Amino acid sequence: MKKIPTISDVISQEERDLGKFQLRKVLPPNGGWLEAKLTNKHMDFLWKCIDKRHKEVHKDLAGNLHGSYSLQDKHNNLIFYEQVIQPLMVNWVDIYGDIVFRNTRMLGKMIPVLNDWWVNYQREGDFNPMHDHGGLFSFVIWMKIPTHWKEQKKLPRCAASNSNCVSNFQFLYTDYLGKILTSTYYMTPELEGTMLFFPAELKHQVYPFYDCKEERISIAGNVSSCPVPPNEKNSSRISINTIGSLYNV
Ligand SMILES: [Fe+2]
Repeated sequence: MKKIPTISDVISQEERDLGKFQLRKVLPPNGGWLEAKLTNKHMDFLWKCIDKRHKEVHKDLAGNLHGSYSLQDKHNNLIFYEQVIQPLMVNWVDIYGDIVFRNTRMLGKMIPVLNDWWVNYQREGDFNPMHDHGGLFSFVIWMKIPTHWKEQKKLPRCAASNSNCVSNFQFLYTDYLGKILTSTYYMTPELEGTMLFFPAELKHQVYPFYDCKEERISIAGNVSSCPVPPNEKNSSRISINTIGSLYNV
């Protein structure tokens, strides 16, 4: 029986060598966020901050919630910024690079500040539509979660759904092909004390929970850039220019 020639029978060694080359995997950076598990000491501090919350409902937020109250307090701001926010910011830049600071390059000597933070009270049916924040970085801390998403999923209005969104927190972002992706935090009491630290422009949303009379309590806030005040020229606070010189902003 006559053998059918393969391509190897009809090409030279030189031509076969054209099939040999080095490959290198290239993964373009697509950013991310930090997840921190706070200690009991952090939680005690934060509950004390909540005890001192302002009485007025915060009016500049996207949430459809029963209450959001400012936590602005000079002493608490200083402690929380120095002990929690600043280390998270330095770590974020160390891991993900300078992208968050690029728009501040031309603004001269600037420092990041905790310019706003607040406590949210979410009751059954409340939700926070897809939104982002202003400034450099934002964060959320879950203080009290009275529901478990698996129990929520069993409720009559949710059981037949092909979505697991009920009661959950979700980031939304595009991949390098422009496809919209989501990353979901499934709400359970075990997430109490978890803090997410992310670029302010990263979109996120919160779905409602149902059939629970207890409130979910979370803290959120923003880090923005502002000019160095004259009385802080010798401040130990890290400046954007310092981060910039470290990371070639
Ligand atoms: Fe938000």
